[in-house]
Amino acid sequence: MQVNLSSAWSIGPVQIPTRVVLAPMAGVSVQAFRRQGRRFGAGLVCSEMVSCAGLEHRNERTLGYLRIASDEHPLAVQIFGSNPATMAEAARMVEAAGADLVDINFGCPVKKVTKTGAGATLLEDPARATAIVAAVADAVSVPVSVKMRRGLDNGSRTCLDLGPRLVEAGAATLTLHPRSAKQMYTGEADHSLTAELVERVDVPVIASGDITSRARAQAVLATTGAEAVMVGRAAQGNPWALREILGESDGEPTREEVAAELVLFMRETARELGEQRATSFLKKFYGWYLGRGRFPRPFKQELTQLATLDEVEERLFAAAPGARFVLARLEQEHPQLDEIELDLPISIYGGG
Ligand SMILES: Cc1cc2nc3c(=O)[nH]c(=O)nc-3n(C[C@H](O)[C@H](O)[C@H](O)COP(=O)(O)O)c2cc1C
Repeated sequence: MQVNLSSAWSIGPVQIPTRVVLAPMAGVSVQAFRRQGRRFGAGLVCSEMVSCAGLEHRNERTLGYLRIASDEHPLAVQIFGSNPATMAEAARMVEAAGADLVDINFGCPVKKVTKTGAGATLLEDPARATAIVAAVADAVSVPVSVKMRRGLDNGSRTCLDLGPRLVEAGAATLTLHPRSAKQMYTGEADHSLTAELVERVDVPVIASGDITSRARAQAVLATTGAEAVMVGRAAQGNPWALREILGESDGEPTREEVAAELVLFMRETARELGEQRATSFLKKFYGWYLGRGRFPRPFKQELTQLATLDEVEERLFAAAPGARFVLARLEQEHPQLDEIELDLPISIYGGG
């Protein structure tokens, strides 16, 4: 059975125009990445994980993750933490900031997070995990989703027992990345577990892990019964992957298109994070955009050595002069961020 990836579906009242979801990725899923993802056909985009403790303490950088532009919807903001009351309060802030969904992270395998009892650790603490979902679902009126791994240890099937309990506690959708926390990103995502999870719950399931092509997306949807696929690493510096997966690709992008998208991404990121933070944040993106045989390897390395974003732009335009015209068209078609209303209520910054 072929699933039409361009067909709409919904999570509760939230309409999602396509079956491709852009994955939450820490250090990657900035607003520029999400807006680009929507433009290339992702039906739903996600923020990276946001610390509920950071929100509780009104940490300025953490609050920055709640800036949502009007052209990002539908959008999920993901929160992580281990205390149900703090998570509920964070969820209220996420809803107030204008997110369409609150997503809860039960998958992060990184020590810094798991040692606080958050992320993937919660897979082995079902009482706390269900208490968190119940508290968050109770606190907000938007649907609540949970993103999880298969379990902590290799071969674990914990997600299959926990999933139905999370739904009972109020989760309106589950995303499964069927690797163990121990595996990090090694080996393969075992989507036979996704199929089993789909059998056990009556909410939409999103399949995450190793979705790198249209063929793979079709196969995973057909064999698991999942409602949608989530694309992560394949979309890093490569929004064209989203179009290819949707069946809307007109081939590999030209060098001009690649350079123009990268410059647009740089400009938006600089506006979002400030020039200084953006300069180091963007370095990893040069390799992602310019790799895949698109530009010679020394060129990528040269860009990472440059001190300012202006210099990087100049080098990109020198290497692909036509990119200036492509960029001018993109900037005309897609309004700059400061022309877009930010849905961030001022009260979020207030102390009280
Ligand atoms: C750099 C990076 C950061 C990630 N950060 C998050 C995160 O903040 N929250 C989360 O739920 N998953 C996170 N993930 C996991 C992805 O959302 C996704 O489940 C995983 O990468 C598997 O999908 P893929 O094979 O398409 O990359 C991250 C993955 C990567 C590579």
